[in-house]
Amino acid sequence: MGPIKEYSNREYWRELDVEEDESRWDIVGSRGLYFNYYKELFEKKLNSLLDYFKNKKVLEVGCGKGKWSLLFARNQAEVLATDINPNMVKFCKKQAKKENLAGLKVAVLDITRERPKEKYDVIFTSTVLQHICEEDMFECAIRNMVLSLKSRGKIILIETAAPRPISRLLQKIADKTKGIQDCSYRSLSSYKKIFRKYGLKFVSFQGVDLSFPLSYGYMIARSRSKKNWKKFFYQTRHTQTRADKLLYRLFLLIDTFSDVFLVRNLSLHKVMIFREG
Ligand SMILES: C[S@@+](CC[C@H](N)C(=O)[O-])C[C@H]1O[C@@H](n2cnc3c(N)ncnc32)[C@H](O)[C@@H]1O
Repeated sequence: MGPIKEYSNREYWRELDVEEDESRWDIVGSRGLYFNYYKELFEKKLNSLLDYFKNKKVLEVGCGKGKWSLLFARNQAEVLATDINPNMVKFCKKQAKKENLAGLKVAVLDITRERPKEKYDVIFTSTVLQHICEEDMFECAIRNMVLSLKSRGKIILIETAAPRPISRLLQKIADKTKGIQDCSYRSLSSYKKIFRKYGLKFVSFQGVDLSFPLSYGYMIARSRSKKNWKKFFYQTRHTQTRADKLLYRLFLLIDTFSDVFLVRNLSLHKVMIFREG
């Protein structure tokens, strides 16, 4: 996958290929060491949140290859897994069939433009909204999600949502390293604000990756040029050094403290829960 010059949410994600070596791609873009670290981190977090999804009618927006939708469906949820990219939902459908998960359906859906016909108890995204950089498209996505929610339903997000000064700094850095998967570093308060505008109440948040200054710092230190930066992002498991693996174990250990009350706001990614009514 080569970087495109001008990032556009629709063009970038609709045209992204599903990696041929299926075993390696659980999360979209998860070939590299950095993504494997996040995969493990999110997996732990979502396993602890499964009660929110059990026996519920769930919509996942931007499901990618469907790792999380499959997890919810295995845990007695009735799931509609959706993504803007037809290759992704095809992959997810194949997996669901292999596992005989009748409760999982898939659909191609661009949340910035459309919404499903039915309403849902829980609507979930993981690292999707942060890649919808254009503010008007972002707002359309939020609106479509809110309109797809049953009364008393919940929206559960795992997205980058650092405190405002950290978000601003990251945005500056991201603007200089364009061309991977552009990201809009919104703050927790900006999520609260937009959902409030559409009538939803903020319930709670949890920190996810307290160690992120270390893991990001390490990632940058390991890649001195722009060229290496991308290589590091996308490298496969086979090219990880022992030091890489050891350090990421250490970061994961630090991340176990992500939800400690006094420091949880410092996490880059957060689980954010909003409710209707
Ligand atoms: C970083 S990946 C995350 C995938 C998955 N949620 C995960 O955690 O593994 C972002 C996903 O959002 C999807 N996506 C991006 N823009 C979208 C849009 N406007 N509507 C629906 N899906 C979108 C992409 O195709 C991609 O699968």
